[in-house]
Amino acid sequence: MPPLPRPDAFLLPKGVYLDGNSLGPLTYAAQAAIERRLRQWQVHGVGAWDDWFGLAERLSPAIGRLVGAHPDEVIATASITVNLHALLATFHRPEGRRRHLLATALDFPTDLHALQSWAELRGVELRLMPSRDGHTLADDDLDAALTDDVAFAWLPTVLYRSGQALDVARWTRVAHERGTTVGWDAAHSIGALPHALHDDGVDVAAWCSYKYLNGGPGAPGGLFVHRRHHDVMPALRGWWGHDKATQFAMAPTFARAPAAAAFQLGTPPVLSLAGLEGALALYEEVGIEAVRARSLALTDALIARVDATLPELEVVTPRAHARRGGHVALRHPEAARLSRALRRRGVVPDFRQPDVLRLAPVAWYTSEADLDRTVAVLRELLDGGAYLDEVVDGPIG
Ligand SMILES: Cc1ncc(COP(=O)(O)O)c(C=O)c1O
Repeated sequence: MPPLPRPDAFLLPKGVYLDGNSLGPLTYAAQAAIERRLRQWQVHGVGAWDDWFGLAERLSPAIGRLVGAHPDEVIATASITVNLHALLATFHRPEGRRRHLLATALDFPTDLHALQSWAELRGVELRLMPSRDGHTLADDDLDAALTDDVAFAWLPTVLYRSGQALDVARWTRVAHERGTTVGWDAAHSIGALPHALHDDGVDVAAWCSYKYLNGGPGAPGGLFVHRRHHDVMPALRGWWGHDKATQFAMAPTFARAPAAAAFQLGTPPVLSLAGLEGALALYEEVGIEAVRARSLALTDALIARVDATLPELEVVTPRAHARRGGHVALRHPEAARLSRALRRRGVVPDFRQPDVLRLAPVAWYTSEADLDRTVAVLRELLDGGAYLDEVVDGPIG
């Protein structure tokens, strides 16, 4: 097992934290960066904007390295939902019979809400590629769904529930062969595995930074727009997407910033951006390849332990490395109760409807001892049966 890359870098909650794919924990670096920005606010008031102006753009080289993009192809901004709306407004261009939107039946709901909004606004269909087993997408179904009347397809790099990873290069190529523009939701892959968005020819993508990136709750996510689209005017515009050199000339007309930065809308949340700024520094030090190598070793080890000692739990995450993200999804009819009971015993997983327990052994801070403890607690719970008394009435598992 590759060693912990920076064992001293995190301020972890007590117990075994396996929910970094939902909310990454606090790093000392993020804490320090936020405190620094707070001090600037205190000392300089509005004058602090001299330093804060252009902060998102200054993070682009580090983000570009994470997603395999040129710095001008990415920008830290907004949430996935907002970025998806902005990308759809611009890059879904129905023409003739090529007009429809395509997503998958296993997508995160907010993506589907945004896509449905644009289907209604533009009078086109939102088609959902089906899943045969309710957990994963089959290659044949992806191939069949990418018909030449789809104008824009939006796909997950890694499925939020099962952790299945899709082959971004392959499906981007297939979509392009059929004349379809393709975008990717990289929420569950950014910070967990390397990407090559530019070389893969991806048109657009969006992600959040509060999961594996550890940017903090509600930290700005980001978007990618391939260089070949940099002459396209954003359909939704705001003053933060204006050319920085002349933004404060306050002209009524919009002179776009070069490249992906033009897709920003309003004033960025500086304190949250600072959390991301700090957290990115760790990736600059260690590199995403090392993070992925340890993550795969950890998910391998966890799957092996589940196979050996927890036969009641079905591993629904694909086993091939290339088809797996950073978490392991386990199916059990009482997954919600198991999730609650684990939390009570100091192991923090999460639960996703209807019957999936997600465990994310994150490369930065999960040890093999943490895996042993998790499996031992699960074994105890399943043997004792007391977890069946857990009340599962809260919104989050
Ligand atoms: C795949 C995926 N997309 C989108 C979101 C949420 O989007 P937003 O950042 O707009 O809240 C999540 C949140 O967990 C997610 O897992």
